[in-house]
This record gives sequence, C-alpha cells and structure tokens, in this order.
Amino acid sequence: MSSNYQFNELRQFTIIAHRGDSASAPENTFTSFDLAIEKGFDNVELDVQLTSDGVPVVIHDATLDRTTDGTGPVSEISLADIRRLDAGGWKDPAFKGERIRTLEEVLERYADKLRLHLELKSREQGLAEKVAPLLRAHGLLDSSPLEYEAPGLTITSFAIEQLFRSRQVMPEVRHGWLLNAITPTDLKLADQIGLAGIYPKASFATPESVLAANEARLSVRCWGIGDSEDALQMAFDSGATGTTVDWPDRAREMLA
Ligand code: G3P
Ligand code: CA
Repeated sequence: MSSNYQFNELRQFTIIAHRGDSASAPENTFTSFDLAIEKGFDNVELDVQLTSDGVPVVIHDATLDRTTDGTGPVSEISLADIRRLDAGGWKDPAFKGERIRTLEEVLERYADKLRLHLELKSREQGLAEKVAPLLRAHGLLDSSPLEYEAPGLTITSFAIEQLFRSRQVMPEVRHGWLLNAITPTDLKLADQIGLAGIYPKASFATPESVLAANEARLSVRCWGIGDSEDALQMAFDSGATGTTVDWPDRAREMLA
C-alpha cells in the first residue's frame, strides 16, 4: 500500500487522514483509524495528551465535553475513569461504545502499519518524556526517516517548547512545527531546533513561503483544511508535500 497518490508525473501530494477518517467516524478512535486504512490511507494524524496520572491518551480537545459523555479537563481525569467514557455516541448513536485509547493501545494496533503524525497536543512539560519510551518499544524511533513512508513517525506540535523538549529526547525522529503563516523568524527558529518540517495552515500557504522553507531545507505540509475544497486546492498549489484532511477519500477524488 502506498500513501503517495501521484496526480501527475512530476508531483506527489500525500493526504494524511486527520484524526483518522474523522468525517465518517468519531475522531481519534480505532474505528476512525481502521476506516482510513480500509480506504487505502497509511498516513494518519492523532493527538496525544496526558491523564491526571500521567498516561498518554489519544484525544484532541483539552476537555472531555465535545467528544465524550464526560466533562472537565483531560488532565484532571485518571486513566481508570477515562476508560469508562463513551467516545463515539456524540458523533452518531451507531458509534456508541467507542473508547478513548491510550497511546500504547494505538501503537499496539497500528505501529507496524501506519505512518503516525503524532501531535503533542497539550503543553504539559512531561509529555514528550512519557511518549518516547512507548514509541521506542514499538520500533518507531528507528523507523523510516522518509516523510510519508509507512510504518513511520513524525512528531508535530503548535508548541515550540514541546518540539524543543521532544527533539532532546527523540533526536532521531522527524519533527514538524504547526503554525499559521511561515515567517523568516520561524524558519530560523525551526533550523536552530533541528526540525525537519514547518507546517502552515493551508489558507496561509503560498508558493513563495513554501519555496523559502524549502530553501531553508524544511519540508512543508499543511493543516486546517476544515470543510473547504478551496483550502485543499491552496495547499496543493502552494507546493506543499501534503496535508491533513478530515475527508481523505473525497480529497483523493478531488485532487485526482
Ligand atoms: O495536522 C495538524 C492539525 O491536526 C492541527 O490542528 O486542531 O486539528 O489539532 P488540530
Ligand atoms: Ca491535531
């Protein structure tokens, strides 16, 4: 299975299933990741943060309210209690019974199949340190350095301090910085920290900024497509190598 959908002889553009196939299934769940795989995608994005007892779990929001039947901050609930929550019914009653997964469970199921674009979502100081041994145990610290090859790992974050810490504990892994628009200052900082990529919001991705990043030896992929086909087209036209998108199969059809 190849993740690189070649749309013409010169250009490859990789679609990353954002929180899995999150338009069709509850985000960041086994069902969402399985559906992406069934549809032929082997690059998947996921969000990681810590429970109150310091266990990395896969959930996007800082609070439980939107995507579970629980309430309150993720950082204030224990693993035992988060396991009891339903993480599917909010999307559709058919998904009731879906669970929030630990990173360990996700790695057990997918580490040998997918390239994981793992976002260090929270700003908790110990997050990278907690995640690193799990990734090592599943062979992902020695996986392919190629940007979209599966199995493999790219670590991302909006928090530059999180990337700095993560680079210290996992220097062998590709790291990319999520931000809005790319500025010359950002390029310098990314270089100083030793990042492999810089990841602008699609609506801010211009061919000029992508070229400047590439000249600084940083690869560019986009995020923030939302429901907009125009944003997807902008990401593609910018010269970026790929993007996360909630509706990977529709995006594939559109770009083809
Ligand atoms: O691909 C990165 C993207 O996931 C960042 O935005 O809010 O969906 O985590 P968010
Ligand atoms: Ca994310």
